[in-house]
Amino acid sequence: MTFQRTLVTTALPYANGPVHIGHLAGVYVPADIYVRYLRLKGENVLFVGGSDEHGVPVTIRARKEGITTQEVVDRYHKIIKDSFKGFGISFDVYSRTTSKIHHQLASDFFRKLYDDGKFVEQTSEQFYDPETQEFLTDRNIRGECPRCHSAGAYGDQCEKCGATLSPDELINPHSAIDPNSPVEMRETKHMYFKTSAMQDALRKWIDSRKGWSKTALAIANKWLDEGLHDSPITRDLKWGIPVNKAGYENKVFYVWFDAPWGYVSISQAANENWADWWKNPDAHYAQFMGKDNVKFHSVFFPEQQLAMNDNWKTVDMLKAMNFLNFEGGKFSKSQKRGIFLDSAVEIAPSDCWRYALLASAPETDDTDFTVSRFADIVNKDLNGMLGNFVSRVCKLTQKNFGNIVPKAGDKNTELESEINAKLSELTNALDACEFRNAITALRGLYAIGNEYMTKMEPWALVKNGDLDSAGTVLNECMQMIDLFARVSQPIIPSAATK
Ligand code: MF3
Ligand code: ZN
Repeated sequence: MTFQRTLVTTALPYANGPVHIGHLAGVYVPADIYVRYLRLKGENVLFVGGSDEHGVPVTIRARKEGITTQEVVDRYHKIIKDSFKGFGISFDVYSRTTSKIHHQLASDFFRKLYDDGKFVEQTSEQFYDPETQEFLTDRNIRGECPRCHSAGAYGDQCEKCGATLSPDELINPHSAIDPNSPVEMRETKHMYFKTSAMQDALRKWIDSRKGWSKTALAIANKWLDEGLHDSPITRDLKWGIPVNKAGYENKVFYVWFDAPWGYVSISQAANENWADWWKNPDAHYAQFMGKDNVKFHSVFFPEQQLAMNDNWKTVDMLKAMNFLNFEGGKFSKSQKRGIFLDSAVEIAPSDCWRYALLASAPETDDTDFTVSRFADIVNKDLNGMLGNFVSRVCKLTQKNFGNIVPKAGDKNTELESEINAKLSELTNALDACEFRNAITALRGLYAIGNEYMTKMEPWALVKNGDLDSAGTVLNECMQMIDLFARVSQPIIPSAATK
């Protein structure tokens, strides 16, 4: 499988807090490994990332910290961007959805879809806070969960039992901003995307996708089977991209309407030849995200892309990971549960995280991260199998041959074919974006080196005075070190370079 040109995008994290190692394991490291692998193969890759700076989460954070929303997004955009750099995530560009070019693009695309008749206006009843004279979004309404009766469920979801809710189901609803403020229902109008009209086109499109992860396909098909409903793409909010239509002065676009187009606006800002990927039917497009993002990337965004009718490149390979838990529970910043990126690099070098997180990546199921398993993988694989091998070979060579690699002997075809078999296992796994398998193959390569040493006992050959044979063995080992460095580069770039 070879692609000339590949576009790789990673879900744009909300700039409302630092990212944690679960995000790293599920989205950013896998994408970066894939990108580094493709670049090694000589492909023309565009790797795009950025912060998602609209939506309610950033406004909630601003309220909590007592600062403006702009200050929140500025702060976390920088923190997140710097952490990704620290972990070697090699984006061509890391931008943000508050940029001018992004606002312009989202407004233009809305206008085009509107003129093409892809929207319909609908009125609905929504919670309203008469004191602040503001409509309350689903996230800004809280109350008792109608299912599990825990307090503090959100209007769209109960975080205790996981139920998807609508705000009018909540028992004793109140404003999340001011719990004492009375709320009432008021009529409001919004622009709805005619999703239902896209059902057939979308089904056809999904059926034509190859190479999506199982998790991704299952979620997409579930939405299609349930039937698509028209969905509002505007909100009664102040923070966001203003809706460029008369009568919508106090409204902004729904964050999930503008954010995915960020992949395009960020590409445009990054590379004047962006259309070589985005408008090129021969380009390959891979997206990386957590499973909670699949609906938006498999239904909501492609619908709009298809509706644009303008040859937009849609996703070919949608890689969705499950969730990483932390020592038996969810990551939570407020409860100080988990490891966040700024502290992770103080615990261990970034390569250790990249390798160990992917060795037990939540690829097929939610996975529990434990510090002891992390230590175990680093000690066994990286320190034990790779580090020890390199250091034993180098020490033994230096002691007996100085700083010169001893001469090669005859071609060792047995060793060569063993290595080649593992190598194709590794490249097959990387082509398919199966990261746990890739790590297993890599570990298998390291094992070949270790087993070869154990079998050949070059130290014993030295002791018996057979320096020629010892040299031949050490030469093979040196070649393996060189190979390990090159094939490990996508996964542990710093150590590989060293
Ligand atoms: N901000 C979203 C999240 O963190 C992801 C947005 S992906 C995008 O879940 F494509 F919409 F940008
Ligand atoms: Zn509940």
